[in-house]
Amino acid sequence: MKENLESETERPSYVVAITGASGAIFGFSLLKALVDHSYFVYLIISKPGFKVIKDELGMFANLDTDGNLISLTGKIKDEIMSKFELHDDGFAFLDDMFLEAKIASGSAKQVKGMAVIPCSMGSLSRIACGNSGNLIERASDVMLKERKKLIVCPRETPFNDIHLKNMLSLNNSGAVILPPIPAFYNKPQSVGDMISFITGKILDSLGIDNDMYVRWKGYD
Ligand SMILES: Cc1cc2nc3c(=O)[nH]c(=O)nc-3n(C[C@H](O)[C@H](O)[C@H](O)COP(=O)(O)O)c2cc1C
Repeated sequence: MKENLESETERPSYVVAITGASGAIFGFSLLKALVDHSYFVYLIISKPGFKVIKDELGMFANLDTDGNLISLTGKIKDEIMSKFELHDDGFAFLDDMFLEAKIASGSAKQVKGMAVIPCSMGSLSRIACGNSGNLIERASDVMLKERKKLIVCPRETPFNDIHLKNMLSLNNSGAVILPPIPAFYNKPQSVGDMISFITGKILDSLGIDNDMYVRWKGYD
């Protein structure tokens, strides 16, 4: 089963991690955008992330996602493919305790970068401390040690000084702190426009050309 989970190609790849903060849809939007741009994506969802997804998006309603997910991998991936119109060969879903995964090592050269979106304050603190207890934390740690792009999208409000210190620490370690804060200069007409704006900003930060949002053109 683990070999199937690793059945990706040698295509340029990104890691997308969804943790247990509000705004899971941002993570799926980025997954879809990267796949649409022909990148392979390794998707990891933390156990609390599943709780938020169930609550906010009504997905995985009949799956017990609290335990070991190896036997549920196919069902989880099928539901994501059907909801977000994705193909089987676009991404792999990885259990967050699958620390033997390719992306847990710096030797995975086709992996170009990673985004933790949305990033809970718990994951933020553990990544900032280098506490690599699960695959999200370990893959983030690998990005930083390999000097690859790590985009962290913290979701909480307001922030306390622990949150802010952890963000500054991660910024100083090379991560990009990109909070999912919408802009209004682009006159969003829907929640979808706001989600696309954040997705586009992450693609920008990863160096991927995109037209996911209306850019500020300046005054004449
Ligand atoms: C519905 C729901 C929404 C949550 N929203 C947030 C949030 O926006 N930010 C946050 O830091 N934690 C939030 N939490 C709490 C985290 O899920 C919790 O701290 C969890 O331990 C984070 O674990 P993880 O970082 O491994 O995903 C939320 C929890 C639930 C159930």
